[in-house]
Amino acid sequence: MKRIKLYSGFERFWHWTQAVLILFLAFTGFEIHGSYTFFGFREAVRYHNIAAYLLIALTVFAIFWHFTTGEWRQYVPTLRNIRAQLEFYVFGIFRNAPHPTQKTALNKLNPLQRITYFGLKVFLFPLLVASGLLYVFYRYPSRYGIEAINIESLRFIALAHTLGAFLMVAFLIVHLYMISTGETALSNLRAMITGYEEVEQSTTTSTLEGQQT
Ligand code: HEM
Repeated sequence: MKRIKLYSGFERFWHWTQAVLILFLAFTGFEIHGSYTFFGFREAVRYHNIAAYLLIALTVFAIFWHFTTGEWRQYVPTLRNIRAQLEFYVFGIFRNAPHPTQKTALNKLNPLQRITYFGLKVFLFPLLVASGLLYVFYRYPSRYGIEAINIESLRFIALAHTLGAFLMVAFLIVHLYMISTGETALSNLRAMITGYEEVEQSTTTSTLEGQQT
């Protein structure tokens, strides 16, 4: 076994800050939706807007980081090894089978994670941010002078945003379970906190593509 660096300081900062902001957005968002009362509607809207702008600012930095470091390549979807990965999650994991995709600094994500995170970045995130911003500017058009958007009704924006919110919550539930499916129950979590993970020696030299053990 060898200890390798998987996550840089910025990556960990971005991950945990994003996690806190998204959980807070979900919490305040579902209060706005009417699911419960905690802050009160008015304050929930205020906090939701503040967290939304913080998340957008963080995302701008994260996009810059992904492109300047080349880390965006980690999220390019691949079908290679996908069947083995699927079989691992359905059967192998319950039989203590080895992980079909080995983690390296250049290949942190297995093929199912690649597809999931790609969808998250290319579909779900833009859906939530775009519908959220339309929501903001629909509600306060005169204050910010954005009449040009001229949206007929909130209906589709609200539907799109709420659908995005439910999908995000579904992702979070699966994500929390997935955290426990590393080499040990805590190894994935520890790696995202410390930046380091213990992996088999042979994996440290492999390339971007997933490798079969
Ligand atoms: C970062 C971009 C986001 C922006 C700009 C944004 C903005 C907004 C705005 C303006 C509202 C309406 C508030 C009002 O009625 O005055 C809203 C509602 C809501 N937001 Fe967000 N939001 C964002 C992200 C999120 C995320 C990440 C989630 C959940 C994970 C979420 C969940 C919700 C929910 C559930 C509602 C209530 C929808 C309804 O019942 O119509 N939002 N959001």
